[in-house]
Amino acid sequence: MRIDIITIFPKMFEPVLNESIIKRAQNKGKVKIFVHNLRDYSPDKHRKVDDRPFGGGSGMLMRPEPIFNAVEHIKSQSSATMRGGPVNLFGGHKLTKSQVILLCPQGKRLDQKIATRLAKHKHLILICGHYEGVDERVRQELVDEEISIGDYVLTGGELPAMVLIDALIRLIPGVLGDKNSLNFESFKGNLLEYPHYTRPAKFRNMRVPQILLSGDHKKIEVWRRKEALERTKLRRPDLLKS
Ligand SMILES: C[S@@+](CC[C@H](N)C(=O)[O-])C[C@H]1O[C@@H](n2cnc3c(N)ncnc32)[C@H](O)[C@@H]1O
Repeated sequence: MRIDIITIFPKMFEPVLNESIIKRAQNKGKVKIFVHNLRDYSPDKHRKVDDRPFGGGSGMLMRPEPIFNAVEHIKSQSSATMRGGPVNLFGGHKLTKSQVILLCPQGKRLDQKIATRLAKHKHLILICGHYEGVDERVRQELVDEEISIGDYVLTGGELPAMVLIDALIRLIPGVLGDKNSLNFESFKGNLLEYPHYTRPAKFRNMRVPQILLSGDHKKIEVWRRKEALERTKLRRPDLLKS
C-alpha cells in the first residue's frame, strides 16, 4: 500500500509516522507513506493556499488550485510507473485506482468496516483541510470519498488523517506480530472484546476471575464469549442489533 498525505503542516506527521507499529509497517515494506506540503503546489509566489469565501462570511477557505495540482502530480507519478517511468509507486503491482479521501466532519463516520475496506486499497491520497474547509470544487471533481472521525469539529484534517492511517495500517496482513490479535478484538463480529487480566492474580484485594486461572481453555472460551456479549449489550446494544 502507498499513502500520500497532502497537508499544510507536514511536521505534525513526523512523530506519529516514526514510532511504533506504523514505523514497523514501513520498515517491513508493508506501506509507503509520503507527506506533501500543500504550499509546494501553490501557483502563488507567496505559497498562499487560502482565500476569502465568495459571498462573504467568516474565515478563510482552501483554494482549489494547490489541491488539484498536488493530487494530479501524485497521480501522474503513478501513471509514470505504468509507462515504465522512473517512479515505481506500486512496487510492480498492477496499477490500482488511487482513492482520494478528504478528511471532513461532514463525511462518513469512520468505523472498523470502513477501515477494513480502505486497508485493501493499493493507493490512498489523503487531503487534510483547514480553516473553514476546502473549496467545494475539490469535493465535486477530485474526491472519491469523505471521511469523518466523529461528530465534532477539529481545527484541521491532520489528526483525523493520522487516526485513519493508524486504524487501517494495523489491518494490513503481516503488520501485527500476532495475526490472532485481529480475530479477537472489538467490533469483530459486532461485539466488544471481553475483559483482560494479567499478573498479579491478586492486586489490592482485586482478584482475577478464577476461571482464567483454571487452565480449562474450553470453559475460558465460553466465559469470554459470555462476557463479550454482556459487555456489548450494556455498552453498545446498537452493535448487537446488526
Ligand atoms: C474547522 S474544520 C472545517 C469545518 C467546516 N467549516 C464545517 O463546518 O463542516 C477544518 C478541517 O478540519 C478537518 N476536520 C475537522 N473536523 C473533522 C472531523 N471530525 N473528521 C475529519 N476531519 C475533520 C477537515 O479537514 C476540515 O476541512
